[in-house]
Amino acid sequence: MKIAVREAPITSTEIIEAKKANPGFGRTFSDRMFMARWNEEQGWHDAEIVPYGPIPLDPAANVLHYAQEVFEGMKAYSWEDGRVALFRPEMNGERFNNSAKRLCMPTVDPEFFMDAVTTLVGLEKDWIPADGKGALYIRPTMIGTEAALGVKASTDYLFYVIVGPVGSYFPTGFKPIRIWVTKEYVRAAVGGIGFAKTSGNYAASLLAGKIAAEKGCSQVLYLDAKENKFIEELGGMNVFCRFGKTIATSPLTGSILPGVTRNSIMTLAPEFGLAVEERNISIGEIKERAADGSLSEVFAVGTAAVVTAIGSLLYEDEEITIGDGGIGDVSQQLYDRLTGIQYGRLADAHKWVRFVG
Ligand code: COI
Repeated sequence: MKIAVREAPITSTEIIEAKKANPGFGRTFSDRMFMARWNEEQGWHDAEIVPYGPIPLDPAANVLHYAQEVFEGMKAYSWEDGRVALFRPEMNGERFNNSAKRLCMPTVDPEFFMDAVTTLVGLEKDWIPADGKGALYIRPTMIGTEAALGVKASTDYLFYVIVGPVGSYFPTGFKPIRIWVTKEYVRAAVGGIGFAKTSGNYAASLLAGKIAAEKGCSQVLYLDAKENKFIEELGGMNVFCRFGKTIATSPLTGSILPGVTRNSIMTLAPEFGLAVEERNISIGEIKERAADGSLSEVFAVGTAAVVTAIGSLLYEDEEITIGDGGIGDVSQQLYDRLTGIQYGRLADAHKWVRFVG
């Protein structure tokens, strides 16, 4: 589909450079955004790039009441040779559609998804921070826009993409984080929408997130909804545990988000002589094996978080320190390898990188 590019006011280079210097996460956006509409008769239509700004929505729009919304989190990286790279963007396109199907929304042709992302990123490449300073965060989103309060799927949808420079997700940078393991709150149950990247899952996590912050923790580790025993994910990141020469993570049971970074880490780990296990890991096992030293690292992985070491877990008012509480060598090696590929400093043996333009 042809994407029309509309005139937009362009921010001056000095201001863009100032905004890129210290971007934080998800607070600065570029000059333009992509938009397309869907309805039964026309399918996807009116694809255009327009000035970044508010979206007029009917107050009865489905997304505002029944949360028909799906999104993705991706990054574009600025290489030293001037090229702009995306990392496994087709996986985001595929997950976007899997999420859309679960939320009873239309899918987007993979080529159209890619065109939307690459056209916008190509136009906004001045907003990409240099290597070492961050990346351009890309947020493809789809919402139900029909004005109707009956509980049913919307007849009309808006697919849009916004981008902006980001640094590290945590204000503390890549320092090890402290996590609250909750027994009171559940993120998602099997059969629900846990595997979909949809706003409802994040809304469900906010209260526990606030309590965690009050306890001095930066994220919440959720346990499975049925037995309240096995670790699942952090709400915005997947989790790995290192036991000797093995790294283990929760299986994709349907209540966990199938992370692109999770998948990439599982592919890279054997290159460091590590075995990879997808298995249930109970919080009891974590407690015991952190104490006897056979669990030496726990780390969070995600597009936003990259690879972030977890220094300690707070569970039932007890502090479980992992290793020496610092960044373990496997976390560091995997971080270096992954970011090395993303920024073009290391060979892309798995052919994960796609260039823009
Ligand atoms: C990401 O890692 O890109 C995410 O979407 C997680 C979170 C910031 C919502």
